Amino acid sequence: MPPRILIADDQPDVLEALRLLLKGEGYQFHTTTSTAQVLAALEKHEFDVLLIDLNYTRDTTSGQEGLDLLSRIKALDPMLPVVVMTAWGSVDLAVEAMRRGARDFVQKPWENARLLAILRTQIELAQSLRKGERLEAENQLLRREDEGPQLIAHSEAMQPVLDMIKHVGPANANVLVLGENGTGKEVVARLLHASSDRASKPMITVNASALSEGVFESELFGHVKGAFTDAKTDRVGRFELADDATLFLDEIVHVPVHLQPKLLRVLQTGEFEPVGSSKTRRVDVRVISATNADLNGEVAAGRFRQDLLFRLNTVEINLPPLRERGRDIPLLAEHFLRQHAARYRKALSEFDQAAVEILMAHPWPGNVRELDHVVERAVLLARAGVVQATDLGLRPEREASARRLDEMNLEDVERLLIQKALARFGGNVNQAAEALGLSRSALYRRIQKYEL
Ligand SMILES: Nc1ncnc2c1ncn2[C@@H]1O[C@H](COP(=O)(O)OP(=O)(O)OP(=O)(O)O)[C@@H](O)[C@H]1O
Ligand SMILES: [Mg+2]
Repeated sequence: MPPRILIADDQPDVLEALRLLLKGEGYQFHTTTSTAQVLAALEKHEFDVLLIDLNYTRDTTSGQEGLDLLSRIKALDPMLPVVVMTAWGSVDLAVEAMRRGARDFVQKPWENARLLAILRTQIELAQSLRKGERLEAENQLLRREDEGPQLIAHSEAMQPVLDMIKHVGPANANVLVLGENGTGKEVVARLLHASSDRASKPMITVNASALSEGVFESELFGHVKGAFTDAKTDRVGRFELADDATLFLDEIVHVPVHLQPKLLRVLQTGEFEPVGSSKTRRVDVRVISATNADLNGEVAAGRFRQDLLFRLNTVEINLPPLRERGRDIPLLAEHFLRQHAARYRKALSEFDQAAVEILMAHPWPGNVRELDHVVERAVLLARAGVVQATDLGLRPEREASARRLDEMNLEDVERLLIQKALARFGGNVNQAAEALGLSRSALYRRIQKYEL
């Protein structure tokens, strides 16, 4: 049977060119010029592969229409392979499309041989997947995820962290995990829980920065029916859910000041009352908390209770920033490469030497999470069996900033230095101010001035 393809593009000349190309290859094709037509065609016919443009309205280039279409196609049939067409140079859009489930992309103007190869690969892959042949890589990935949280840490700087996890993991002590954005605080929390005798129950997580003041208390402690207007039924709070298990209080610095005494009490005695109830509950909860803020500074400023801090930080684990874990950078990069290559079904096994050098030289203000995203993007872009330096989208740092400096005025430079200092200290104004030789208020004035 000839392969059946659905092509979608609003430009007639593009459709015509594709028609000529694919007819010669024996494809049976169906052309559409709008997202509505694509969805209608999917209702009526079966296809082996879809080749879709990302823009359907004249003069739009955002790709949003195509991305929305992609999500709807994926909702209809997650197995259907979709290849997207993007304008030359719109790499970020291609990456976003791949994250949303596109199997591959071609940039316009396309190379015929490459386009045909991509379509053929996707049709074959989809056929074998439909037959239930899970790719080995995919199986391996699933297996790895089953094994629980993974912490890659071979560098000198991470040894104290590993020691701490080993020693306090099994203990019941409360642990405060500190570190910049993306350093792995949550991974450490999961490991601590997994190595404790509470591990048979799930770890319960509360992100304090995501809760508005109004729902905070009820979220943590629950409420009884009628406690406030919207309380139509009783609600169990996170402390109760975490009974005999672990509660991970993320972004702890955002706990509202007026609730800090109630939190302190449950930490001291295990006792609390749900909102609107006078009946005291007792729980046995181990609390692991995390923040990238300077809690001592917050205590000094009167925004965080010192007695609460002393309860939370029975043990403190400090995660060093990625730039201080040199040896771990290539190991983490390879770990993410394996994960993303399996997820996107790309046969990539390593980085070339130039790519490794760039990874090592980059300052990683977003730490491990940034590395994860950079590698994901590189996996999506890489063509050969190895990831090359250009796939990373990182410029060699020194060169880049030197070039930029030549084009900057004094204010630009000041702004850049402040940005860098804030990134380096994970947004901690006190530490950034000290490093810049400014007072806290002088730094705040500049943050406002530059809208940082
Ligand atoms: N040492 C590591 N080994 C393997 N993966 C890691 C490691 N550290 C972090 N990661 C991964 O990096 C990402 C960020 O980690 P995590 O969410 O734990 O950071 P975080 O410190 O909680 O960040 P944030 O401050 O932004 O909340 C996650 O996907 C995590 O799995
Ligand atoms: Mg986190």
